[in-house]
Amino acid sequence: MANEAQFKGKTAVITGAGEGIGLEIARQLAAQGANVLLNDLDAAKAAAAAQEIVASGGVCLGVGGDVGEVSVVRGLVVQAVDHFGQLDIAVANAGITLWNNFFDYDPDDFQTVLNVNLGGSFFLAQAAARQMRQQGTGGRILFMSSVTGYQAIKYLSAYALTKAALRMLARQLVVELGPYGITVNAIAPGATVTPRNLADDPNYEAVWGQLTPTQLPATTADIAQAALFLLSPQAAQINGQTLVVDGGWTATSPVPPLDFVEKGEA
Ligand SMILES: NC(=O)c1ccc[n+]([C@@H]2O[C@H](COP(=O)([O-])OP(=O)(O)OC[C@H]3O[C@@H](n4cnc5c(N)ncnc54)[C@H](O)[C@@H]3O)[C@@H](O)[C@H]2O)c1
Repeated sequence: MANEAQFKGKTAVITGAGEGIGLEIARQLAAQGANVLLNDLDAAKAAAAAQEIVASGGVCLGVGGDVGEVSVVRGLVVQAVDHFGQLDIAVANAGITLWNNFFDYDPDDFQTVLNVNLGGSFFLAQAAARQMRQQGTGGRILFMSSVTGYQAIKYLSAYALTKAALRMLARQLVVELGPYGITVNAIAPGATVTPRNLADDPNYEAVWGQLTPTQLPATTADIAQAALFLLSPQAAQINGQTLVVDGGWTATSPVPPLDFVEKGEA
């Protein structure tokens, strides 16, 4: 059973959290007592999401900005510390997909995916770890990988390589951050029902339900609960791991038709 106040007095930064998985992690951390700085590319979305959390009794600050820019992620840590006095948790959640076939993949799109998915995660972790080292209080860093970092999905070459790289980054950083009491892990969600996925395909839940051993895609709450466990004091000895939350999908990995990419609608 969740401890209602197990994050009381802790401060968390979460990127790409104006909607979807990041917003649900922000909601659940705030509901369990954390002070949350919530970022989104869309400043109005970040503000609205933060307002919703505050209205339900949480402590939350919404900050706009593109995590593909190193100065932005560094600024998020500075703002969290200015506002809440410290930093204990960093969740590098923001990630973009940009579907296309490998033969036509555009160099600018490739760079954008790298900057957001990898640069945004790497430099958030770096800024957070520097702050946590200075505080001497330990901390938790969490990356958002994907089942696409394990299993090939057509038209996701750039996205997939970033998601696989994040798993290795979590594993790699244990060596340098472990001595400071900072753990680094990742979550690899499978198909998850989010506003973006439903906008792309109104039948998303049914389509992925048929392809998933549990007969259901994940909810954002399923992913957030796994995230909160890895961020909690109970996970102190879990370090460098990636937790797959996919209803068993990676065991078989079927993919639906992707004609929306072929028709240029992605
Ligand atoms: N939804 C899924 O099915 C799924 C599956 C596996 C992995 N993931 C990963 O989980 C994470 C969250 O996924 P989601 O589907 O909830 O996200 P999403 O696509 O719904 O986006 C969430 C928010 O991120 C913001 N965002 C986009 N680019 C940004 C940037 N450069 N800087 C700051 N914010 C930015 C968007 O404005 C949006 O409000 C991503 O890293 C994604 O790759 C998602």
